Formats: sequence, structure tokens, C-alpha cells
Amino acid sequence: MKTFVVSLSLILSVILQAAEIPAGEHALGTRKYADFEKPEACKSCHTAIYRQWEQAMMSQAYTHHWDEIEYWDLAVPHSEKDPFFKEAADGCNGCHAPLAYLAGDVPPPRPSENSRANESVSCDLCHSITAVAADPVNFNWVSEPGRTKYGAKEGLVSPHHITEYRDIYTQAEYCGSCHNEMNPFGIMVKSTQIEWAEGPYAKEGVPCFVCHMPKAPGRSAPMAEEGMVAQHVFLGAHNEAKLKSAIELSIHPDEREVPYDGTVRFQVELFNAKAGHKVPTGSVEDRILWLDVRAVAEDGREYHLPVDLKNFEGENFTVASDELAYIDMGVPLGIENFEGVQRDGVPAGNRIFRMPYLDENGIMTIQQWNTRSLGVDYRIAPRETKIEHFTWSMPDDIAFGFVTVTARLYYQKLVKPVADFLKVPADESEAILINEASTTIEVYD
Ligand code: HEC
Ligand code: HEC
Ligand code: HEC
Ligand code: HEC
Ligand code: HEC
Repeated sequence: MKTFVVSLSLILSVILQAAEIPAGEHALGTRKYADFEKPEACKSCHTAIYRQWEQAMMSQAYTHHWDEIEYWDLAVPHSEKDPFFKEAADGCNGCHAPLAYLAGDVPPPRPSENSRANESVSCDLCHSITAVAADPVNFNWVSEPGRTKYGAKEGLVSPHHITEYRDIYTQAEYCGSCHNEMNPFGIMVKSTQIEWAEGPYAKEGVPCFVCHMPKAPGRSAPMAEEGMVAQHVFLGAHNEAKLKSAIELSIHPDEREVPYDGTVRFQVELFNAKAGHKVPTGSVEDRILWLDVRAVAEDGREYHLPVDLKNFEGENFTVASDELAYIDMGVPLGIENFEGVQRDGVPAGNRIFRMPYLDENGIMTIQQWNTRSLGVDYRIAPRETKIEHFTWSMPDDIAFGFVTVTARLYYQKLVKPVADFLKVPADESEAILINEASTTIEVYD
């Protein structure tokens, strides 16, 4: 009974303490950079974890080229022209340069100035988190930097710091505090943890860590005991291997033998076999997944097959076409009567799995902070299978013999016309082939 009372008051004091510590936007300017240790301070003991983190996007969240361009060329100038966006532009740093945000150093110095903002999502920021204040969204974690490093294991001993177990290190809400985002218009512009919570992996008790911080035998520091150690790899859209075969692909025709003037219908199945959330997820304003189907006849001639329409509302955004969008970039860029840039940059007629972010005129935007509504959600949910059809009336002059029909699925981190227009290095907009499947039919006279 006594220990019960003691532990209860302990829990209570922890809760009260946490309640007093501002989180999310209330935490702006409540700390100093010096409250946090540099990642280099962890390197001597946690060498492997340091090397993994250094290669992960976490350590580049403030310095990576596209982040720098979007923040400095779009978000900051937009907030200077329209102060309504000031809080949102400052808020970018809450997730991308959290030390700068907590220190009230916003906008932070440019990445080239090598300030501590460049530490991005650092070791000590993550391991100072003691709670998530409410439903996870907009960096609403509670940070308590200091001698104690918090984690998922109980009873560890370290010569450099005190260690303490916290439940939150085993819960997807931890990640969701930065991987769910609401913009100033109340639109959820990032929902990775919510998608996960609504899907099968949450029910099966498989949180983010299982797939993004996989465990392997070893020791996390030279003086540690052997055990299963969380690998800080955080592989995602910037890793081709992680993307590859995330979606399984298959294709078959309705008939194997077709007369030369006939029509044949192909069915493609796309199964989200590997991701714990929708694909694409996260920066959905940037990311697209698209399906390209081509037939190659006996004589080597190639034919591109457009997808059959399903006639659902908003479908036009999911079929590649040659129109302009992203007109609202004209405001921060100071271009009057800006006409926009090409919407998709993908061969016309191809199916695009995406969810369009729309500005006040219903035109697609890349500026998540300026999003007024979301269009049709045509992404592939965890363990969902989507079916697409391609009806092909064969040309009269097609060569007799075998025709090989190949479906290719590509992933693109950022739509190419936007990337090219903003001079984002090409690796951000390359079309990555993530899966491919073929079938054959025979054409007879
Ligand atoms: C002098 C060596 C040393 C340094 C430097 C060091 N640690 Fe540790 N740390 C350890 C040891 C030893 C353990 C216990 C590991 C074990 O037994 O599995 C540990 C454990 C941890 C844990 C696990 C806590 C838990 O309960 O799950 C975290 C988190 C951690 N360290 C973070 C950090 C961070 C962040 C830094 C840099 C600011 C850092 N450490 C610097 C030696 C060090
Ligand atoms: C303090 C905020 C924060 C927390 C907490 C956080 N993340 Fe992130 N994460 C980010 C940011 C910001 C990026 C984007 C980096 C960039 O600019 O490309 C990112 C990137 C990633 C990526 C790479 C995405 C890509 O495009 O390659 C993965 C995977 C990821 N996070 C998983 C997780 C997991 C799993 C957790 C929970 C253990 C987590 N994150 C917790 C802020 C956070
Ligand atoms: C069952 C395994 C699994 C689980 C659970 C899982 N993921 Fe993923 N995640 C993947 C795979 C596979 C990819 C690569 C395909 C893709 O980009 O969607 C990925 C990609 C990502 C990306 C990069 C997406 C992009 O477009 O940049 C982020 C960020 C991410 N995951 C965060 C999370 C977070 C946060 C959670 C928990 C709320 C989580 N993941 C749970 C498997 C998983
Ligand atoms: C995005 C947040 C995030 C970042 C950045 C991060 N960690 Fe962690 N770390 C975690 C989480 C979450 C766990 C627990 C994962 C689990 O057990 O599934 C963890 C676990 C650990 C552990 C215990 C490993 C084990 O399984 O024994 C150590 C040690 C550690 N981190 C040190 C570091 C160091 C050092 C850095 C920087 C080089 C770092 N972390 C960066 C979130 C983070
Ligand atoms: C609530 C946390 C949060 C806020 C606020 C936030 N971001 Fe992010 N941002 C992330 C996460 C997490 C990712 C990674 C998602 C993914 O991989 O798809 C990301 C990804 C990005 C990317 C894509 C990076 C890449 O390499 O593909 C850019 C660019 C970006 N953010 C810019 C911004 C800007 C500009 C703002 C402010 C207007 C902002 N972010 C606000 C969490 C946030």
C-alpha cells in the first residue's frame, strides 16, 4: 500500500511537472541551445547509432536541399508578404530545426552558417522527450533536456548520463507528434500516424519502430550489455530499397488470344504489402506514385495504354494530364499573374495515386501551409489492393504474334515540373521504378 501511494504521488508529480512544461507552439523561445548536448557528445559511446542517424533524413531535416528551398524561397517570403502565415513559417522549425524553435531563434541562420539549427532532429532533442501533450500533432512533444536521457529500456546504467524509461518510447504517438501536421486553416497536411492508427498494424500492435528502427543483436555502447538494439536508420522515401516492392504489382489480360482488330482488357492489381500507412504518406503535396502500362508488339513497336476511367469524384487529379497548377507560388516568388507550372510531369493518361492539396481556388498547391482543402484521397492504404483496368483497341496495323504488356510503378518524391522550376536538385524528382510486372497475349489474323 505504501509503495502504491508513493508511486502514485510520483506519477502525479510527473504529470503535473509535464503539464507545466509548454509544448508545441507554446514552447517557442522557452529554452536555450545550450540546454541540449550536441550529437558529437553521444558519438564516442553510441558510435553505430550516431553513424546511422548521420545518414538518415533526421540529421538533415533543416539542411537538406529541398527543405532549404521550400523554407527560404516559399514559406518565409510568403509569411513576410502575408503575416497570417508567420506562425506557420516559424512552426516549420518546430519539426525541422527543433532546437532553434525552442531557443526562439526563428527564422534560424541559413544552413550555410553552420549554426546549431543544423543539428536538425538531434539525439538530445529526441531523448529529452518525456511525453506528448495531447493527440499527437504539430510538435506537441514535451522536452525536458538535462542529465537524464529517456528511452524504451528500463534499468540501464551509463557513465555519461542518467537513463530513464518512458512508455512514450514504445508508442507511435511519439513519432506522430512530428509526423501529423495541421496547417493554419485546420487542414491535416500530414497524417502518417493517423493513417497507421486507422490501419491493420495498429490493431496488431506493430508501431513505427518495428519498421523504421528495426532491432538487431549487439550493444549500443562499449560498456553496455549485449541485447537487441534499436537501429536508428529511419529509412523512408529517400531510400530506394525501402521503397522497392512496398507495393506488389501484377497484370493479366482478360483473353490470351486476340484477333488483330480486337479489343483486350488488362487488369493490374496493386497491393500495399509493406507500408504501415498509406503510400504515399507524409509530404503528400509533393509525393506521387504512378502506373505506366506499355505494350510491345512482335515488330518492336511500342504502344502506351491510358488507364480506364472509374468516374469517381475528383478522378481528374488522379489521371496525368497536361495542365498547369501551383499558381499560388507566384505570391512568395513575387511573380505577378503567374501562370503556374505543369501539374504532373508524367505521361498523359497514366494513373497517379495521390491526394491533391488545393488552394482557395481549388487549384493544386505544393504549399501545404496554404492548403484550404484536400481533394480525393486516391492513395493505397496499408494492406489495401487497388485494381486498375486498361482497355486497348488494338491498331489495325499491329504485327501478328506475341505482344508483351508491362506495367511499371514509379515513385517520385517531388513532382518534376515543380522541382525543375524551383531548381531542386534532380535526385528529389527522379522517377524511381519501384515495381514492374509483365504479361503476354497473342495477336492472330
Ligand atoms: C560515456 C559513454 C556514453 C555517452 C557519451 C553517452 N551515452 Fe547514452 N548510454 C551509455 C550506456 C553505457 C548506456 C546503457 C546501454 C545499455 O546498457 O544497453 C546508455 C544508454 C542510453 C540510452 C537508452 C536509455 C533507455 O533507458 O532506453 C539513451 C536514450 C542514451 N544513452 C542517449 C544518449 C545521448 C542522447 C547521448 C549524447 C547526448 C549519450 N547517450 C551519450 C553510454 C553513453
Ligand atoms: C522532432 C520531430 C520528429 C520526430 C519526433 C520524429 N520525426 Fe521522423 N522526421 C522528422 C522530419 C522533420 C523529417 C523530414 C526530414 C526531411 O527534411 O526530409 C523526418 C523524416 C523521417 C523519415 C524519413 C522520410 C524520408 O523521406 O526518407 C522517417 C522514416 C521517419 N522520419 C520516421 C520517424 C519515426 C519512426 C519516428 C518515431 C521514432 C519519428 N520519425 C519521429 C521529424 C521527426
Ligand atoms: C509495417 C511496416 C511499417 C510501419 C508499421 C510503418 N512504416 Fe513507415 N514506411 C514503411 C515502408 C515500407 C515505407 C516506404 C514506402 C513509402 O514511402 O510509403 C515507409 C515510409 C515512411 C516514410 C516516408 C514516406 C514519404 O513519402 O516520404 C515515413 C515518413 C514513415 N514511413 C513514417 C512512419 C511512421 C511515423 C510510422 C508510425 C506511425 C510508420 N512509418 C509505420 C513501412 C512501415
Ligand atoms: C526521432 C527521434 C530519435 C532520434 C533522432 C534519436 N533517437 Fe535514439 N531512440 C529513439 C527511440 C524511439 C528509441 C527506442 C526505440 C525502440 O526501442 O524501439 C531510441 C533508442 C535509443 C537507444 C537505446 C538503443 C537500444 O535499443 O538499446 C540509444 C542508446 C539511443 N537511442 C541513442 C541515440 C543517439 C546517440 C542518437 C543520435 C545519434 C539518437 N538516439 C537519435 C528515438 C530517437
Ligand atoms: C509537425 C511537424 C512538421 C512541420 C510543422 C513541418 N514539417 Fe516539413 N516535414 C515533416 C516531416 C515529418 C516530413 C517528412 C515526411 C515525409 O517524408 O514524407 C517533412 C517533410 C518536408 C519536406 C520534404 C523533404 C524531402 O526531402 O522530401 C519539406 C520540403 C518540408 N517538410 C518543408 C516544410 C516547411 C517549409 C514547413 C513549414 C511551412 C514544414 N515543413 C513544416 C514535419 C513537419
